[in-house]
Amino acid sequence: MNNKQSLLASLQQSRELVLELLNSLSAQQTKVPYLPGINPPIWEVGHAAFFFERFILQNLDKASSYNPALDDIWDSFELAHEDRWHEGLFPDKPDTLRYFDDTFNKVKQRIETKPLTDSDLYLYKYAIFHLNMHIESMVWARQSLGYAPPPSSLQHTDTRNTDLIHSKDVEVPAGRYRIGMPSQSANFATEDFCFDNEKPEFTVDMKTFKISRTLVSNAEFLTFIQAGGYENDQYWSMAGLKWRNSNRARHPLFWKQENGIWLERHFDQWLPVQAELPVKHVSYWEAQAYCKFAGRRLPSEFEWEVAALGNREHGTFNKFPWGNTMESHRVDMDSTHLARLPVTALPEGDSQFGCRQMIGTVWEWTDSLFFPYSGFTMDMYPFMSTLQFGDHKVVRGGSCATSSILIRGTYRQAYTPDRNDVFVGFRTCAQ
Ligand SMILES: [Fe+2]
Repeated sequence: MNNKQSLLASLQQSRELVLELLNSLSAQQTKVPYLPGINPPIWEVGHAAFFFERFILQNLDKASSYNPALDDIWDSFELAHEDRWHEGLFPDKPDTLRYFDDTFNKVKQRIETKPLTDSDLYLYKYAIFHLNMHIESMVWARQSLGYAPPPSSLQHTDTRNTDLIHSKDVEVPAGRYRIGMPSQSANFATEDFCFDNEKPEFTVDMKTFKISRTLVSNAEFLTFIQAGGYENDQYWSMAGLKWRNSNRARHPLFWKQENGIWLERHFDQWLPVQAELPVKHVSYWEAQAYCKFAGRRLPSEFEWEVAALGNREHGTFNKFPWGNTMESHRVDMDSTHLARLPVTALPEGDSQFGCRQMIGTVWEWTDSLFFPYSGFTMDMYPFMSTLQFGDHKVVRGGSCATSSILIRGTYRQAYTPDRNDVFVGFRTCAQ
């Protein structure tokens, strides 16, 4: 994505993906009920187009607005989340798609005709990545609402893999490791592209720790449920108890029990809970309670990054567990398998320590609160980080619904600890 050709290809691919997600919904399905974790899909498409218009066409070329009356409507700072459900507030689907097409065609033309400077490349990439963040939220909205999976996803192919003992720990040796991405890099728009919260890089002295090779599976989480883990207050923190009680939580969000059999809703289908798949759609509080029950703990975000990347102070720097470039066949991302591969699958994505599926599958809860790294400076888009600092927990690694072009091992996402609608799970450390 560092030259015009690959940039145009990513722009086009992202454009097709978002249109496919919108156009595969019926007129009725686009009128989504209010839920705190989702957006109306037509607003989301207009908002993504607005981001290109604001940060590229208006910012770089001083272009006039497509429709000044709508600028505040598409701007997530100006339009409060619950107000996005007001009938008639934003244009209908045909008008929104006209705006989307007009904006994308102008951006495409700009890339084709103007010199590609580093500062422009940075903004193009930022806007494409922002669009891809909304692609992920359009996918989790389909899960929340019980709609069909994205049209591009594969049917689940069962590739059981028994080469690895389930959840055996690996030991990560003590040492001084690098965390994060360099700031003020000459390559800030190309190989060192990252978001504000990943920089500046620094080193940490880590003690030896043990972390599970695999994500916590449904089988492991079922032992917690069957031992009465949800009902037993001793496994829950004070805040966790408050969450559990107010949500009457007794199982992961999309599970139910029928005639003694646990079922899990996968988009629009109820399927038996499969033991070897990762547990997902669990809040931080559930992950924390499971750990207490199992005599384990969640990794800190630095432990997670070291286990995934193992970048030693004076060694080679890798952005991915297997090397320095994204290779999407190694991961469950881009809504292909949708977290329906066993936790032991995809050995080709292992980290140097043997940790599996650290990139993709599910976002992984860490025990770390989301704070800026020392020396942090904000990008042009405050929604990326600053609004989440202080009360969100860091999740790492991306999910099955994350776009593989978006992420690297230093990428930090942050969710409030009650979030369980997103594709989120966890792995654990020995105490
Ligand atoms: Fe946004």
